[in-house]
Amino acid sequence: MRSDRDATPSHACRMRHGILDGVGTLVLFGGRSEIGVATAARLAAGRHVVLAARRPDDLAAESTTMTAAGAASVHRVAFDADDVESHPELIASIVRDHGPIDIAIVAFGILGDARRAETDATHALQIAHTDYYAQISVMTPLAVALRAQRSGTIIAFSSVAGVRVRRANYVYGSTKAGLDGFASGLADALHGSGASLLLARPGFVIGEMTRELMDSGVSPAPFAVTADQVADAVAKAYRKGRGEVWIPGVLRPMFFGMRLLPRALWRRLPR
Ligand SMILES: NC(=O)c1ccc[n+]([C@@H]2O[C@H](COP(=O)([O-])OP(=O)(O)OC[C@H]3O[C@@H](n4cnc5c(N)ncnc54)[C@H](OP(=O)(O)O)[C@@H]3O)[C@@H](O)[C@H]2O)c1
Repeated sequence: MRSDRDATPSHACRMRHGILDGVGTLVLFGGRSEIGVATAARLAAGRHVVLAARRPDDLAAESTTMTAAGAASVHRVAFDADDVESHPELIASIVRDHGPIDIAIVAFGILGDARRAETDATHALQIAHTDYYAQISVMTPLAVALRAQRSGTIIAFSSVAGVRVRRANYVYGSTKAGLDGFASGLADALHGSGASLLLARPGFVIGEMTRELMDSGVSPAPFAVTADQVADAVAKAYRKGRGEVWIPGVLRPMFFGMRLLPRALWRRLPR
């Protein structure tokens, strides 16, 4: 349940009901993320967009996408998810320079090499650092800023990989399980503050992140979707004021059932 639904009508509420549609600032952490860019494009119209990414000078295509989507302005800032010390000041500077954050899309992440992560602790820790530790590092100061504004929505990307962790990608899956728990708790903590969090749980997405996997011969999981399908569902959920969205929706009952599968069967699933 979205936290701002029962609160005093906030900036975020009024935005969603069209009273202030198309104003405010949208920040995309992971400014080159395929899912992040597709989602931001659906919400950019009339908003000031800040693309936060490594190599901020190399965001021409993403900037053009935002302008074509009707963004009021597009800005680029340097952002390294792994440089956790820098996050509080980065978020404070975005608010100082561009005003209150209306939507923060947190879409950075790495899939990593699942096989390598089973034996190479450095690689496993790298996945955990970017996909869990750094997510907390970004979302915590974001929540502080949104609480102070009494408005704004964080859009976080979990995955069905974290709903019940599979043998085939248990390092990545475990980071998503942790992130999912963190984001769910944060959504509850924001309840009544005027700020909110929308948690997206996509299944397998055919795209940039999974390209290497598919090139190695792994075929997409059942009910695979594209980044555009994820973005459509997330933008719709945002506009409806929802707190969670599964993409596609059928994965919700499916994973409810999968949670009940005996371990002996679960561990034999190929992926
Ligand atoms: N694709 C899927 O199958 C799938 C399924 C469920 C959930 N998700 C989640 O959805 C989110 C978006 O995924 P996606 O498919 O859009 O992936 P993507 O296209 O591979 O984008 C991931 C982005 O994360 C950025 N990133 C990685 N490490 C970073 C760091 N240290 N600092 C700053 N940026 C960093 C990358 O930046 P660079 O361009 O600089 O490398 C890249 O632009 C991720 O959290 C992912 O786990 C994806």
